[in-house]
Amino acid sequence: MGIDIGGSGIKGAPVDLAIGELAQRRHRIDTPVPSTPEAVVGVVAEIVSSFGYEGPVGCALPSVVKHGVIFTAANIDDAWIGVDGRQELERRLRMPVVLLNDADAAGIAEATYGAAKDMPGLVCVLTFGTGIGSAVFVDGVLVPNTEFGHLEFKGGDAEDYASARTRKDEALSWADWGARVGEYLRHVERVISPDLFILGGGVSRRLEKFEQFLECSTPIVPAELRNDAGIVGAALAATSH
Ligand code: BGC
Repeated sequence: MGIDIGGSGIKGAPVDLAIGELAQRRHRIDTPVPSTPEAVVGVVAEIVSSFGYEGPVGCALPSVVKHGVIFTAANIDDAWIGVDGRQELERRLRMPVVLLNDADAAGIAEATYGAAKDMPGLVCVLTFGTGIGSAVFVDGVLVPNTEFGHLEFKGGDAEDYASARTRKDEALSWADWGARVGEYLRHVERVISPDLFILGGGVSRRLEKFEQFLECSTPIVPAELRNDAGIVGAALAATSH
């Protein structure tokens, strides 16, 4: 079972790990306001029990997560910081739980079933949504919690400059937003010199609208798993732990 905790919705489903697809239609519940650990844990329990599921559960969230403990909280309540989320969830669900960063979860799904499968070298998966998430792989092994959306760029957070949310908020054309994404990708290039960029998030389906503005020397391909990558990767992490 994989659960993807986001700023607006919490989504989950059992996953068929043989093929990397949802085994049943996903269940989505609006993220509670405020999204405190107690409230979110309650929603996760509701989603898990709605499937009559018992077994390992993977939960992805927009946070730096080390050994089950939450260190940052973007788009979820600050009350999460310092909380042992794994312990809280295991206590409530009475099932083994693995917690991980949402972009890392999406990246693991891409590395197992999608565009990063069998890719040697340094692969950088970037998800463009409300924020920018990152997952870095070295010869298929994840380097967790890279948080490249928060690289300092143009005097602020990179994700405030180039996320999909910023494209909408500032009503940027594909050309203007694509140019910003290109500047950002070239910045990430200077930091880690990847062999491949994989672009995920809703906009990855529309790569043809902005790829000509990216002007980046590293090869770029769209993510293959689309919306459910976080759920699939979380389920995978729960069972391979
Ligand atoms: C968070 C990351 C997350 C990304 C995508 C960023 O704001 O800091 O942890 O992966 O958004 O949700």
